[in-house]
Amino acid sequence: MTIISPSLLACDFLNIERELSVLEKVPNLWLHLDIMDGHFVPNTTFGHPIISKISQKTKQPLDAHFMVTNPEFYIDTLKAISFETFTIHVETQTNSVELLTKIKNISKNAGISLRPSTELSALSDDILKTCDLVLVMSVEPGFGGQSFMPTSINRIKELVERRNDLGANFLIEVDGGVNQSNCHDIINAGADVLVAGSAVFKGNSTDYLNNIKSLRKSN
Ligand code: DX5
Ligand code: ZN
Repeated sequence: MTIISPSLLACDFLNIERELSVLEKVPNLWLHLDIMDGHFVPNTTFGHPIISKISQKTKQPLDAHFMVTNPEFYIDTLKAISFETFTIHVETQTNSVELLTKIKNISKNAGISLRPSTELSALSDDILKTCDLVLVMSVEPGFGGQSFMPTSINRIKELVERRNDLGANFLIEVDGGVNQSNCHDIINAGADVLVAGSAVFKGNSTDYLNNIKSLRKSN
């Protein structure tokens, strides 16, 4: 079953404990944390203290997406947190294979992400063989509530092909503008995990669980 990863960026932050409790018992659910440093992307969200507090208030798997210039600092300083995924961007001036290998020591899955404008060829065979997850950005990272870029569908299909060719087994996660109208095409293209902020917390219904259920409908 497709994993849904609600992006907490769109939740009611002043009542985050209540928001987390609503999602606590949902199966096949991750919690997507968008960490933005105001440098890799213009926006700033939250960092260590909030990540730590969230981890104490939920048993759901934490799906962390680091939109930061210096991912190594976060790898080195967040060892105490138990992550399901720890995803960094290929555009940072770092050795991705080295960092992904390092991430495997602190997180169940090591993820690599790329901006919509970055060619898929930036993900070398070595990167794809090392990572456990590729996070395809379907909007320009930095803000929630943007529209899904349809060109992402072909990128997902290409990644499925490369995964087959390489005999690799990374998961494909899609992030940005995912909603109840496009989830069918995204899942059919080969996505294993859907991130959804607005479609869960500000969607058609105020019932988050219903919004999540309708994102899975096409299974
Ligand atoms: C954008 C973030 C996304 C975003 C998703 O930089 O990485 O996770 O919050 O939000 P929606 O689903 O509203 O596009
Ligand atoms: Zn994200």
